[in-house]
Amino acid sequence: MSAPQNFYAEVGGAPVFHRIVHRFYEEVARDEVLRPLYPEEDLGPAEDRLRMFLEQYWGGPRTYSDQRGHPRLRMRHVPFTIGPIERDAWLRCMRIAVDEENLSPEHREQLWNYLQYAAASMQNSEF
Ligand code: HEM
Repeated sequence: MSAPQNFYAEVGGAPVFHRIVHRFYEEVARDEVLRPLYPEEDLGPAEDRLRMFLEQYWGGPRTYSDQRGHPRLRMRHVPFTIGPIERDAWLRCMRIAVDEENLSPEHREQLWNYLQYAAASMQNSEF
């Protein structure tokens, strides 16, 4: 799956990605399923990584790869058990964040379809 490279600019660039990912991590911080998975006390660095990745994926700056190298996201998630409960918790938090953003219906659908697909592909446990 590849993203349209004009998406980042069309939706409004950096501030939009900052708001969505920040809102997502506010939900993660109080989620009983997700919070214990995050190894660091401070969620700020994890927020930066997800934001940089999404910006790059949708046609924004390539800072993620400059700092982290090839994404290899499935491999990077292997240390965490991600079953249907974790996947759904992640999507629940992301849904709140995306819905609060004032995207056009087309952009919203494009983003949401991708996030559902990506979350399913990160699943590494049946339970
Ligand atoms: C990292 C959980 C799905 C992108 C992480 C980390 C955890 C986690 C615990 C480590 C935090 C850190 O130090 O960065 C989950 C769970 C998911 C999920 C439970 C449920 C399906 C996704 C999806 C994406 C994503 C769908 C992309 C669309 C990332 C990125 C990182 C990360 C970019 C940082 C990788 C790095 O550079 O080290 N995730 N994740 N995750 N996740 Fe997820």
